[in-house]
Amino acid sequence: MLKNRVIVITGGAGLIGQEFVKVVIKNGAIAVIADINTEIGKKVKKELSKKLNTDNIHFIKLDITSKKSLKKCIDKLDKKFGKINAIVNNAYPRNKNYARSFFDVEYEDFVENLGLNLGGYFVTSQQFAKYFQKQGYGNIVNISSIYGVVAPKFEIYEGTKMTMPVEYAAIKSGLIHLTKYMAKYFKGMNIKVNALSPGGIFDDQDPLFLSAYKQQCLSKGMLNKSDLAGTLVYLLSDMSQYVNGQNIIVDDGFCL
Ligand SMILES: NC(=O)c1ccc[n+]([C@@H]2O[C@H](COP(=O)([O-])OP(=O)(O)OC[C@H]3O[C@@H](n4cnc5c(N)ncnc54)[C@H](O)[C@@H]3O)[C@@H](O)[C@H]2O)c1
Repeated sequence: MLKNRVIVITGGAGLIGQEFVKVVIKNGAIAVIADINTEIGKKVKKELSKKLNTDNIHFIKLDITSKKSLKKCIDKLDKKFGKINAIVNNAYPRNKNYARSFFDVEYEDFVENLGLNLGGYFVTSQQFAKYFQKQGYGNIVNISSIYGVVAPKFEIYEGTKMTMPVEYAAIKSGLIHLTKYMAKYFKGMNIKVNALSPGGIFDDQDPLFLSAYKQQCLSKGMLNKSDLAGTLVYLLSDMSQYVNGQNIIVDDGFCL
């Protein structure tokens, strides 16, 4: 479904990013891990290349919060491949005070985290869209979250050290609206912009939380990262040609 397409995945070295690299490779694409962490990025590239027996995985260092780094990245990719088909905005920058409980969040931290994350997704989309506009086509997929769609269900964190950060709610809901804004702004440019909002992804969380989370869902509860694969491929492929400005929620019914 993605044969020979050049697909850039920001945060491609992380939990969900690695899975996205796998699935685009399995669908015939050229995957670019664009991550700030060179050491892990190179390691992931090596391991996945071996596992999937492919030469089509590339690593490029990228800081999504820096216009300079973005320009350098786009320039390098253009020189190497002569085209970029899609950007998956999936990186997860946050500062050291991210995810404090509501009354402990300082104004400076709130603003910094919004800047790093939502601001980073904005400037990445802006710079790639500039390239897409010249190229005559392009595709942007923003990874949002169920918590960009519904208010937190705080009760599922009771008895654990976990919470749902206020910064996250602002970032992810903002991203869904930014998706619509950009889709409409790019009218006539042949650039598609959609969001994918995953439910919680299983990563050995506290069993108390896992069980409370599952009660809010329809069958499985927390998802495996591979459960997002079909929707990502759909959004990156021609199957979704006229799907634009949408948010697809993959959450086993958690938001209902
Ligand atoms: N894990 C979940 O349960 C879940 C659920 C819903 C949505 N999401 C979303 O999925 C996306 C990926 O989450 P994850 O859990 O895989 O995160 P993760 O922390 O495992 O990985 C994030 C990656 O982003 C990279 N990164 C951080 N700052 C960067 C920067 N400035 N520039 C480039 N790369 C940078 C990190 O090095 C890391 O490799 C995020 O947008 C997150 O909000 C995650």
